[in-house]
Amino acid sequence: MPTFFRAVALAAALWTAATGSAQEFEGERLRSPGGDIEVNVSVSDGRLRYAVHYLGEEIVRPSQLGLLFESRHGFHDGLVLLEEPERRSADTTWEQPWGENRFVREHYNELLVTARHEDSGAVIDIRLRAFDDGIGFRYEMPEQPGIESLNIVRELTQFALPPEAAAWWIPADRTNRYELLYRQTGLEEIERVHTPVTFRLPSGTHLSIHEAALVDYSGMTLMQEYTGGFRAALRPWSDGVLVKTAVPFVSPWRTIQIAPDAVGLINSNLILNLNEPNRLGDVSWVKPGKYVGIWWAMHINERTWGRDGVHGATTEETMRYMDFAAENGFVGVLVEGWNVGWDGDWQAAGDLFSFTESYPDFDIEAVTRYGHELGVELIGHHETSGNITNYEQQLGAAFDLYEELGVTRVKTGYVAGTSWLKWVDEDGVPHYEYHDGQFAVQHHLKVIKEAAARGISINPHEPVKDTGLRRTYPNWVTREGARGQEYNAWGLPPNPPEHTTILPFTRMLSGPMDFTPGIFDLMPNERPPVREDMPRGSPESRVETTLAKQLALYVIIHSPMQMAADLPENYESRPDAFQFIRDVPADWGETVALAGEVGEYVVIARRERGGDDWYLGAVTNEEAREVEVELSFLNAGDPHEAQLYVDGGDAHWESNPYSMTIESRQVAAADRLSLQLAPGGGAAVRLTRAGQ
Ligand code: NOJ
Repeated sequence: MPTFFRAVALAAALWTAATGSAQEFEGERLRSPGGDIEVNVSVSDGRLRYAVHYLGEEIVRPSQLGLLFESRHGFHDGLVLLEEPERRSADTTWEQPWGENRFVREHYNELLVTARHEDSGAVIDIRLRAFDDGIGFRYEMPEQPGIESLNIVRELTQFALPPEAAAWWIPADRTNRYELLYRQTGLEEIERVHTPVTFRLPSGTHLSIHEAALVDYSGMTLMQEYTGGFRAALRPWSDGVLVKTAVPFVSPWRTIQIAPDAVGLINSNLILNLNEPNRLGDVSWVKPGKYVGIWWAMHINERTWGRDGVHGATTEETMRYMDFAAENGFVGVLVEGWNVGWDGDWQAAGDLFSFTESYPDFDIEAVTRYGHELGVELIGHHETSGNITNYEQQLGAAFDLYEELGVTRVKTGYVAGTSWLKWVDEDGVPHYEYHDGQFAVQHHLKVIKEAAARGISINPHEPVKDTGLRRTYPNWVTREGARGQEYNAWGLPPNPPEHTTILPFTRMLSGPMDFTPGIFDLMPNERPPVREDMPRGSPESRVETTLAKQLALYVIIHSPMQMAADLPENYESRPDAFQFIRDVPADWGETVALAGEVGEYVVIARRERGGDDWYLGAVTNEEAREVEVELSFLNAGDPHEAQLYVDGGDAHWESNPYSMTIESRQVAAADRLSLQLAPGGGAAVRLTRAGQ
């Protein structure tokens, strides 16, 4: 028997031994409103389990639920289910202050079961919600005598998937950040993965496992125990405890998005729907928009963050970018390297960052004043180098300064030289924590709240993953949390053509990303160095897309803070292509993913917020392909003008990336658009109601 099939057969046998067959599994049943998804939860042999069916197929086999605690009984075995579970349904529509869709329908059926540990008498509730696009469940530990605080040392949650599934994943064991290339493999190649992780079953059903509302808990990775058998593996604190909590507490939701095809995952709102409503009240101060910045210049070694090179963050250079921003409708200019701490090895010297003191060649008052005269804001920057104590000590003063200067958007960064987040206790002893452990989760929310109190929106790089908290805290506008454009400046390898055909079906399911699209000079390392001691990177680090694909990314990769990442002069030299970036919005009224397969291609259409224009993006991997797009999303009867930016017939990401045709044509809802995409290419289309 080939190894793979043997592994599958073994996994199936292990299942029957460990859990009994699916037929024996009976318990409380929960159905999605449309009836396609069914969840069963029950106790057998003293253990709590759930299973999921979709359109009659068992997509999650009976899988354990439970938690183990330090120094008291947990919920592993010896459990009984209490009678009379609670049931509830909801069907409401809520409004997003910004995002992919203005209105989101939240429609689910809910089941709340209580399990009791017979020996200790302790109880735990499991709340399950079934939507038409997936399920979520979480642990809720109610108040009970004698249990005040708890250290969780193991979460037993399992996801037992069909062993024949294919997966798109990044490993969670090699580094504690998410900046890795996705791999497509069978399950047998996986050890431990980050979420969201995407699966395709042989039936064509697509699943994505993730979590929602990660608050005061550790981030969940998934460990595969046998082929198909994934178990929650929470990130520990540096002392080994997984979660330190007080009772009562609720865990984040464990989520499974379920769709009949790949694009169904993109069209799902499950993660947002499992988060709490906005807690910040009036958030009209959170303003989406496009920005430019003194940023790419540092990544391609044209400028430096510190003054030990060609300092980028000078008053004069910032004003030049502000002029460019004002002329072209950008809301802000990001400036990195303006504050004390960047000279020398800034990644190692996070202790030296001051978040209020600027270098003498950067007059922060003058640039913010100048920007305001032009209607352009400075976008603030806090690079912490992972030194959390140093940052938190200055947090209040740092945000006060920005508030005083009218800076309403701040990018933060956690590039830690050690790769860990560092905090120092009262005795001066340093501790090193994961980027996605409970410590990081607490820190990020602290920053969000401090910023919100001053009307500031936050865009963290090297962040904890997104779990939809933007619904509750709408000033958490975007984040990095994947391999972004910067890898094309210095990464070896850079992002391959397939990268942006995987992100929409994986990382982007968690929320917006500050990918920083829009590079027009696709081979920056071929330019001569600006100074001999500032050599360019390897020519192998280049942008592996066509020019048209860079434009398409503005539609494909959603970010309410969306960057035009290249240098102003590179936009000025291609004004026709740049027009699309000038036009495309960063905020949407409606979004629909139209077609695609993970890692192959994707087509997404979005309607601008507060207007009738639609924008369409299509991107492909290494393969050339023709995509046929039905325009039925347009208002029937209204003729539209389509402005198309499409790969030229001879375009190729490697040999001819700049070949692009720009044309206009009349279309209507009944039409189909045929788009020819080159290898590593794409298409960007603006659809405007004729006569507007
Ligand atoms: C890494 C971030 O991803 C990048 O955008 C930033 O320029 C550097 N850190 C410096 O803060």
